[in-house]
Amino acid sequence: MYTWLITGSSRGIGLEFVRQILAGGDRVFATARNPDKSPELQEIAAAAEPGHVHLVQLDTRDAESIKAAAKKVEELLNGDGLDYLLNNAARVSGGNDSPTTIDPDNFMDFMRVNILGPALVFQAFVPALDRSKRPEGPVVMNTTSGLGSIGLDCGVKNASYSISKCGLQMLTYKESKEKPNIICFVLDPGWVKTEMGGEGAFLEIPFSVSHQYKVITSATQKDNGGFKRYDGENLPW
Ligand SMILES: NC(=O)c1ccc[n+]([C@@H]2O[C@H](COP(=O)([O-])OP(=O)(O)OC[C@H]3O[C@@H](n4cnc5c(N)ncnc54)[C@H](OP(=O)(O)O)[C@@H]3O)[C@@H](O)[C@H]2O)c1
Repeated sequence: MYTWLITGSSRGIGLEFVRQILAGGDRVFATARNPDKSPELQEIAAAAEPGHVHLVQLDTRDAESIKAAAKKVEELLNGDGLDYLLNNAARVSGGNDSPTTIDPDNFMDFMRVNILGPALVFQAFVPALDRSKRPEGPVVMNTTSGLGSIGLDCGVKNASYSISKCGLQMLTYKESKEKPNIICFVLDPGWVKTEMGGEGAFLEIPFSVSHQYKVITSATQKDNGGFKRYDGENLPW
């Protein structure tokens, strides 16, 4: 049985990850800003086998909340390792700006939640990842977006959000170099029908997550430092 931790599991892609991880028979620390305010997450936890899901408060905007979550998870792990860390949480709304309309506070909040948050989560859980006994090595998946790619040439839209995902990609590259024993990569989930993606999106949530799940659980050292789509296709930086 492997052990997972995911951020932003209250709804959308994160919530579906919790469902699929549990269906695979593993144990998951399902973190959210307000676990008590997600009835779906509460329902999943109530139906899970004892000890397979732990709901933990974690706000990626708040360094103290990340530290407190790591302390709680370390207690629950009781010396065991963490095998998979999914940095899925992100600020996704309010970012339809352009270089000439960037608002300083809005911009800095995107950087705080979408880059610094995952960086601090990584820092906090490295000791647990280092104890992983997964034969191919522990895995860190940072959720990016096609909008974070310069190579895909997505144009002017959503500047602050896109810049934050581009920065997350550089962070992931640096993580893969500093901790080569941990397999770190970024995945683009595709355009998915969540609150963020909207009803017009191409992909159903379970479809995107089941493909991402396959890529993540089959990750080996050759994936370290990579940028892929949900189906494992390499994407241009
Ligand atoms: N849907 C798409 O088409 C699409 C495309 C490309 C990339 N993505 C990426 O996929 C990931 C998941 O997005 P989604 O589509 O599932 O969006 P979503 O349905 O809007 O869910 C966003 C999740 O992030 C959480 N979150 C936001 N700020 C947070 C914070 N400060 N601390 C902790 N959690 C926080 C939300 O929690 P609350 O319930 O507390 O707000 C929610 O669980 C994101 O990284 C997003 O950028 C999505």
